[in-house]
Order: sequence, then C-alpha cells, then structure tokens
Amino acid sequence: MNIENNTNNNSVENYQIIPIMPEAMAIFQIDKKKHQEFKAKIEHLMDTADDKYRRDVPPEDKREFLCNNRFQNVLLDFPDLKELHSILEESALDFIKKTGFTCDQVVITDAWVNKYRLGSTLPTHRHANSYISGNYFINYDKSINSPLTFTNDRVVTSQAPAIKLEPDKSNKTPYNRPDYSILCDEGTVLLWKSHLLHGYSKPEMGDNRLTLSFNVMPKIAGVGEQFSFAVDENNRV
Ligand SMILES: [Fe+2]
Repeated sequence: MNIENNTNNNSVENYQIIPIMPEAMAIFQIDKKKHQEFKAKIEHLMDTADDKYRRDVPPEDKREFLCNNRFQNVLLDFPDLKELHSILEESALDFIKKTGFTCDQVVITDAWVNKYRLGSTLPTHRHANSYISGNYFINYDKSINSPLTFTNDRVVTSQAPAIKLEPDKSNKTPYNRPDYSILCDEGTVLLWKSHLLHGYSKPEMGDNRLTLSFNVMPKIAGVGEQFSFAVDENNRV
C-alpha cells in the first residue's frame, strides 16, 4: 500500500472542532421606571423587615440576607413585590420555551435578597433542587461591584470528581477558559441552568451590592408517559 498517495481525511490536519450543545443564558433588562420602583421597595425592606426574615451571620460578616430560609420567599412574603414576582416567573417560563422545552407553568420555589459589602466575595457554588436559577441586579455598578462569574467545570473541578488537565496558556479556546464573567448593568436579570457553578472571587470594591436570587422549577416536570412529578407552590417544606 502506497501511504504517500493516500489522502487521509482523518489526519490531525483535517479534523474540525465544533461547538455542540452550547450553554444558554438569558439576559434582559427590567423596564427602567419599574426597576427604580422595585429597587426602592427592596432597599426599604432591607432597612425595615422584621428580624425573622434575616439570616443570622456572624457580626464580622460582610453580608446580609433577607428570606434566605427554606420557609421564606421574598417575592411571596412581601405583597409589594407581586409585580416583580410575575415578571421573573414569566421570564423563566419564556426562557424554558425559547430554548425549546415543553412547559406550561413554573414556580419560583426560593427567592431571597443578598447584600454584599466592601471586601466580600461569593464562593463558587451551584443551586441544588432547582431547574433554572436567576439573579436580579438591584443596586449594582459594574465599575465597582464584582461581576457574577460562571466557572468552566473543564478547568475548575473543585466540587466534583473529574479528570483535569492544565490549560495551555498559549492556546486559548472557548473550551479552556476558566470562567466567564457577565458585565451587566443595574436592572439586569440573568437566568441559567441551576447546576452551573457561579460566584465571584474578586473582592467587592463597593459597599452595597444588592441582588435578588431565585430558583425556579417547572410546575409539572415530566417526560413521556412514564415519569413525572408536580411542584406544590402552596407548601414550603
Ligand atoms: Fe447562587
């Protein structure tokens, strides 16, 4: 066999790398006037809400949380936020539909407010028992407040058993970047698949980074004729 005269279409010179199944992230802006209304209401809540809605953190902690408890939901416990609840719920349902999945109704199962002060960071984490998660940037200036950063689990595998290789710094690709930071404006809402790793390690340069986090489940999660379950929005357990 004359190897030299054979064209080898499988040689390393000819192969392609194609991006398959890209990750979806929704990014949209709340109407500016509405955002100012929601911001005023939530800042007021942060100042006045009863202690029972606040998570206990050590006195030296640089963070404050409102309704970060499985029996609480800031969008349901404070009727003033009913309109925001509807907007976030509709947007999550729309995200699921736009990415091509069948869903008639969603339930925001958790919603809480985070205030992060000067020097604070948000350790990388993912949200369990949730299908879609989101973040609404309530008081936020991208020039001083840290961006929410999504971690590439090919590179950073701290939370799961996996095989890991050192990224080649001379060959940067979409696949070996360690993370992806979203530089957004105040009033933005991000939605993503809940098991994506996220957080930020850049210490806060602002003193009042205010965001609302939420988890969303389909009201009925089912595939085919065999398996399904329903989420009961009237019970918090
Ligand atoms: Fe989170």
